[in-house]
Amino acid sequence: MKRRSALDAWRIPEVSLTMVIAFLLFSLSGKSISQTPAQTQPAPHAPMGWNSWNSFANIVNSEIVQQEAKALAANGMKDAGYEYVVIDEGWWLGERDSTGNIVVNSKQWPAIAPGQKDGDMANIAAYIHSLKLKAGIYTDAGHDGCSMYPDSGPKYMNSGSEGHYDQDFLQFSRWGFDYVKVDWCGGAKEKRSGAIQYAQVAQAIQRAEKITGRPLFFSICEWGSQNPWFWAPGVGGIESTIWRTGGDIIPPVVETLHDPEHDKRVITLQNVLDSFDTGMHPEAQHTGYYNDLDMMVMGMRGMSESMDRIHMGLWAISSAPMMVGSDLTRLSPATLSLLTNKEALAIHNDPYGLQPIKVAETISGVQVWAKPMTVAGRRAVAVLDRTDAPVQAKIDWDKLGLAGAPRSVRDVWNGRQLLVDAALSVPAHDPADYPANKSKIDGIQATGGPTFARLEYTNNSGQVAVLRVRSTSGFSTGLALPPTAGSSSGSIGLILPRGTADLKFESQQAVIRKLLVYSW
Ligand code: GLA
Repeated sequence: MKRRSALDAWRIPEVSLTMVIAFLLFSLSGKSISQTPAQTQPAPHAPMGWNSWNSFANIVNSEIVQQEAKALAANGMKDAGYEYVVIDEGWWLGERDSTGNIVVNSKQWPAIAPGQKDGDMANIAAYIHSLKLKAGIYTDAGHDGCSMYPDSGPKYMNSGSEGHYDQDFLQFSRWGFDYVKVDWCGGAKEKRSGAIQYAQVAQAIQRAEKITGRPLFFSICEWGSQNPWFWAPGVGGIESTIWRTGGDIIPPVVETLHDPEHDKRVITLQNVLDSFDTGMHPEAQHTGYYNDLDMMVMGMRGMSESMDRIHMGLWAISSAPMMVGSDLTRLSPATLSLLTNKEALAIHNDPYGLQPIKVAETISGVQVWAKPMTVAGRRAVAVLDRTDAPVQAKIDWDKLGLAGAPRSVRDVWNGRQLLVDAALSVPAHDPADYPANKSKIDGIQATGGPTFARLEYTNNSGQVAVLRVRSTSGFSTGLALPPTAGSSSGSIGLILPRGTADLKFESQQAVIRKLLVYSW
């Protein structure tokens, strides 16, 4: 079971104090290899916002959510793009009325404005909307929810949505929620198939959206237990989604609960690095479909400024969902400035939304991670020192698929140019251009390791089309590509698995228009 795991209590490792991470953003003057075709709709980057669990666990209530939403709206995070305020487990204790409608505690969720009724979740959704933010809610795919394993206080059964999918997701949407996280405590207990349950949830969400006309973003939370990166992209025909890749970074650290259990919880850098390491499934992630490395713990007990920087850097370069689980009313200026760093967020919000690949580790523990950005010839690079000593990292430009030193290098943290050599004009390696305009392409070479490719497609099926990727390495995954309108095409970046790969659309009406495969 992934939750309530024992923490490495008390000990903040010495090593964290000397950890360094640098983020560099390169621009090349090399010929522009491909123009990015217009998307039919703006590409959804991974969601950003706040989630109640890490800092408030199951004591969440209306007052807390209002305070946090106010902080988010006022502390610069909203302006930086954090938009969701998500209420996690603890808002509902499993009670339904005689027609199966969810009943909530009216003291926990009272009226907030004149004319409202106590015990109506529409109150808090309206409050969040009044701050021009979006509201999120939480349930479980099984009969029982995670409140059967409470973080504190008594346990409650039946707080899951199984048997009520249509009713509950419509209710969430009618209350005004824009986002729903669907957990797996009940599904795991019943030994269900995640692919089947979450497809049914996705379909119920889409039916609810049709009725209310309000988008309800779908967040899958089954902790990576059934390898969701293989089935979650496009599950149940959903047009955008995220899926958790592992357990919780930490059990919640609730500062107001002074019991021995909560008092001993301290976050270590290893907790954060473990979440990053288990979350790397670059072949599954692409525009609109993201591996979820868990809610962020920046500024929480145990996190130093350098640990915050590593955390922010890794989530940004991974284009991971950035749902901050900290108490926003207590964030230091330093943590806030990292969370709102414009250049780090530009990397996070890059329309291709790819994960990085580890391109070098010449000294053990000193790793260079890099990913291609949508602008041809541009890379985001993280140098991560996991050792207990500071290092002078040297970047081998070749390892980034660059034929020489870049034209410009920016240090994201300081917003400064690190190295400029305008006289140097550096072409990127030419990509392999595969004959296209068909629904399948075989024999794509990625024998040197995970390989970046750009793909243009049309999908006139009117729904998400799955592009099956199979490699001689035995790897197989599906990428989900939303419909395109008329003759316009869509474009994604993708990471091909090591080996020789075949790409094939499962729908007759979807066609690969162009495929460029780069040499790293
Ligand atoms: C699981 C999830 C967490 C949180 C808790 C609530 O552990 O992984 O993110 O939602 O349940 O109990």
